[in-house]
Amino acid sequence: MYDELKEISKRPRAFSIYTAETLWAEPHLAKMMLETHLSQETALASRPTEAIERFVDWLDTSFGLEAASICDLGCGPGLYANRFAERGAIVHGLDFSRNSIEHARRHAPLTGGRITYQTANYLSDPLPEEQDLITLIYCDLCALSSVQRRNLLTRIHRALKAGGKFILDVYSRKAFEGVVESVSFEQNLMNGFWSASDYFAFQHTFRYDHESVSLDRFTIIEKARTWDIYNWLKYFSKDEIRHELKDAGFSFVEFTGGFGIDRLDETTFGVIAGK
Ligand SMILES: C[S@@+](CC[C@H](N)C(=O)[O-])C[C@H]1O[C@@H](n2cnc3c(N)ncnc32)[C@H](O)[C@@H]1O
Repeated sequence: MYDELKEISKRPRAFSIYTAETLWAEPHLAKMMLETHLSQETALASRPTEAIERFVDWLDTSFGLEAASICDLGCGPGLYANRFAERGAIVHGLDFSRNSIEHARRHAPLTGGRITYQTANYLSDPLPEEQDLITLIYCDLCALSSVQRRNLLTRIHRALKAGGKFILDVYSRKAFEGVVESVSFEQNLMNGFWSASDYFAFQHTFRYDHESVSLDRFTIIEKARTWDIYNWLKYFSKDEIRHELKDAGFSFVEFTGGFGIDRLDETTFGVIAGK
């Protein structure tokens, strides 16, 4: 028991383990995630509808969606992509959760532009080429290691037309200030989110001050098995994200407010990078 607790409480090296595919695509979790995406009660997986509509309005006004080719990476259940298509865009939605992609397809608009949904991993599968716009919304870049970010940013740059724009949002250093190390233990932690059968779970929150990274490590103990999910988050300064985008080949980088409902919320900020 002592050795097991010691192992469960271990602080791993930042980004040394990647479990995002289990978190989003394991059948029980994918079902729970879809409910979380669609819920207006929680903003854990997607922002509320009001914020999504405000973002789509902003994108349309700023860049023009009519007839634009746009790829939404990590599109989830299509909450943004379907709205892009309603505005006449030619949309490619890509996500590795089959469940979310099926939901997105079922709710695709019947009028407007064309829409293609693809179950794929944006870290390794080919991206559609010659895009006017590529979006990566809800701070998904922050869940990746520096090596994964470099790889993805370079591939996104390649997938854009000359003059194309990459739009994303990231967690800020301000958000990192609010991260507090903690540990909790509960039977069926998060109301049964982690498994359809009975379980116990630990949640360890770690800060990595040197790297401005946090980790929520969930250890789920079921009757038949014990498994872990590692939720990493990198918190950016504007200089840091500008640097990473320039390194990947982007010619200019601009910033805007976060894409949430509250414009005064400084925990995230929006980034526009041009090829
Ligand atoms: C925080 S959610 C955001 C979803 C959507 N952008 C939104 O805001 O409604 C992250 C999404 O990215 C997907 N995802 C994470 N890593 C991915 C990867 N490597 N390849 C493809 N999809 C990925 C997840 O399945 C999930 O749908």
